[in-house]
Amino acid sequence: MITFNINDTEVQAEPGWTVLETARQYEIEIPTLCYHEAVSSSGACRLCMVELKDGSWSKLVASCIYPVAEGINVYTETERVKNVRRWVFEMLLAQCPASGEIKQLAAKHGVESTRFSIKDPDEECMVCGLCTRACEEIVGLSAISMVDRGVHKKIGAPFSRPTEVCVACGCCVTICPTGAMRSRIDAVRGIPKITLTPLAV
Ligand code: SF4
Ligand code: SF4
Ligand code: FES
Repeated sequence: MITFNINDTEVQAEPGWTVLETARQYEIEIPTLCYHEAVSSSGACRLCMVELKDGSWSKLVASCIYPVAEGINVYTETERVKNVRRWVFEMLLAQCPASGEIKQLAAKHGVESTRFSIKDPDEECMVCGLCTRACEEIVGLSAISMVDRGVHKKIGAPFSRPTEVCVACGCCVTICPTGAMRSRIDAVRGIPKITLTPLAV
């Protein structure tokens, strides 16, 4: 076992565990969005940042991808951690202003507004890739992937064309932390959006 400290309390972890996995074993809360225990971690959202300290030296790391090591000192609620968490929440509120899930989690941590500019008020997706990893690693398919590059990067079926590879299992919709996959899955499957018009009387 590996012994180290979280918030000045001694904890033990199996070799290969991450700081986040260990914190969860000890019911120490670290907010996350792009992490799910059933799939590999990518460190995409940076919400799970914690501070590592050794004397006067310290650095911030993403706890969901940082491996445990003997004797390290991890802190989950320092001023640096709270500042970076606020910054990440504000970035996410600007990037995904239509996501009720992000609004709710941000509010729980005291963040209800953003200083960053909002490009698309209808956007819910933070392009974390959790849905694509779930499709590949849980379902065993690759029906969805990152489409385009840079600021145009988005989630969809390859080449943005409907795909028959998708078996409509709903795994990506369930695992999506922002609710964005709910409105994307029909396009992946090529099912047109239905607009209901009231009957004439
Ligand atoms: S649809 Fe959801 S899970 Fe997929 S990239 Fe967007 S936010 Fe992440
Ligand atoms: S619903 Fe389709 S895209 Fe989503 S996980 Fe299942 S197979 Fe993959
Ligand atoms: S939960 Fe660790 S980077 Fe997203």
